[in-house]
Amino acid sequence: MAKALTRMTAEEIIGEITASGLRGRGGAGFPTGRKWDLCRREKARPKYLICNGDEGDPGAFMDRSVLEADPHAVLEGMVVGAKAVGAAKGFIYIRNEYPLALERMGIAIRQGRKLGLLGKDILGSGFDFDLEIVRGAGAFVSGEETALIASIEGQRAFPRPRPPYPAQHGLWGQPTVINNVETWANIPSIIRRGAAWFSGLGTETSKGTKIFSLVGKINNTGLVEVPMGIRLRDIVFGIGGGIPGGREFKAVQIGGPSGGCIPNQLLDLPVDYESLSRAGAMMGSGGMIVMDEDTCMVDIALYFLRFTQEESCGKCAPCRIGTRQMAEILARIAAGEGGPEDLKKLEELALTVKHGSLCGLGQTAPNPVLSTMRYFLDEYRAHIDDRRCPALVCKNLITFVIEPEKCVGCLLCLKNCPANAVAGEPKKVHVIDQAACIKCGACFNVCPPKIRAVSKTTP
Ligand SMILES: Cc1cc2nc3c(=O)[nH]c(=O)nc-3n(C[C@H](O)[C@H](O)[C@H](O)COP(=O)(O)O)c2cc1C
Repeated sequence: MAKALTRMTAEEIIGEITASGLRGRGGAGFPTGRKWDLCRREKARPKYLICNGDEGDPGAFMDRSVLEADPHAVLEGMVVGAKAVGAAKGFIYIRNEYPLALERMGIAIRQGRKLGLLGKDILGSGFDFDLEIVRGAGAFVSGEETALIASIEGQRAFPRPRPPYPAQHGLWGQPTVINNVETWANIPSIIRRGAAWFSGLGTETSKGTKIFSLVGKINNTGLVEVPMGIRLRDIVFGIGGGIPGGREFKAVQIGGPSGGCIPNQLLDLPVDYESLSRAGAMMGSGGMIVMDEDTCMVDIALYFLRFTQEESCGKCAPCRIGTRQMAEILARIAAGEGGPEDLKKLEELALTVKHGSLCGLGQTAPNPVLSTMRYFLDEYRAHIDDRRCPALVCKNLITFVIEPEKCVGCLLCLKNCPANAVAGEPKKVHVIDQAACIKCGACFNVCPPKIRAVSKTTP
């Protein structure tokens, strides 16, 4: 920050960031230097900066970790950005569910002001810049940049059409640079070590490193920071330590709730913006959910679609109505009530929602459906044509049965059944009353060797 403020011009800073190849870590991967340059060229004053710390993806906590552990990196990055575009004020938008991040960023800002690193005449350079924290109320759509801007302005977090982009017409109609937490945190190192150092990491089009939150059916869960271009296999089986319990890997869902599922045969895919989107997924903000053979891909698509449907702000019809219709069709398929025409309807709706929605939420919401249909069509067909769930997940399509030759009559399943659906006496073979069974799996969980989950093979 000191180097940028005292020894570099705005053009030099932007030149360095552009040369580094840094692209936004919030999802879309827009080149950061280009965004800053667009804002710098705007004549209107004042200009604003925003740090997007909304992080609404379920299971993602990369930005929270940076805000809690290294708030100063974000703060420094923003001062550098402010000098580059000519902004005098910045806002750090953090969701209210992140109390520690809010507290620590507050401390960092107070320290900055006290030490002359924020406020008037920073480091005697004659440059003024100050920061304010805004608490987000925690809706997924608030992370979308135009909705976030509306939220800071005190309005409901509704997105608006772009262009104009925030760099030209942002907060209170003024030129505004909005970047993700991780993007801002990368800035000080690029300025200090130089663009060549940063662009030495990664691939031709995706430079530097990226933080992912690795969760799901994987031995080592947590945050990983990896060079761009690393193969998925190296993340899942190298760093992540593979799949627990000797189960088979099935897919990894990348890019948050509106990302896509990458199957086994694409495990050697390099993790970069272009490869992921070609495969039907996206970098997103960095969520990676690993799934094993016990995951039903229809159920997964339904799970993510329900999330985006509930989080749709409702402003545009394709997203509001389309995601709901898609969820209804998927629920029907998962319940074994789908018809052969449903697959075509799903695809048509998915493409309409993707192309017709106002903001990125609707435009990407169909990704989990489209990618699972692309790579796991046989599972959809099994649900529709055979009324069967191969992964034994969809409750309507499975039956729990006690293996008579293995049952020793220990009463364990009977005692654990919340629906009193198991009949039996000590030391005598127990039987599940299928009419009373609520398919909760409690019996299976306490006695897996003697209880089998089976899926019907005929309608
Ligand atoms: C529904 C939705 C949610 C989003 N949530 C976030 C978020 O939580 N954090 C974030 O940085 N970007 C999020 N984005 C992306 C932002 O709109 C924007 O592209 C980003 O903040 C720009 O910063 P970057 O260029 O550094 O990535 C979201 C986009 C959409 C469509």
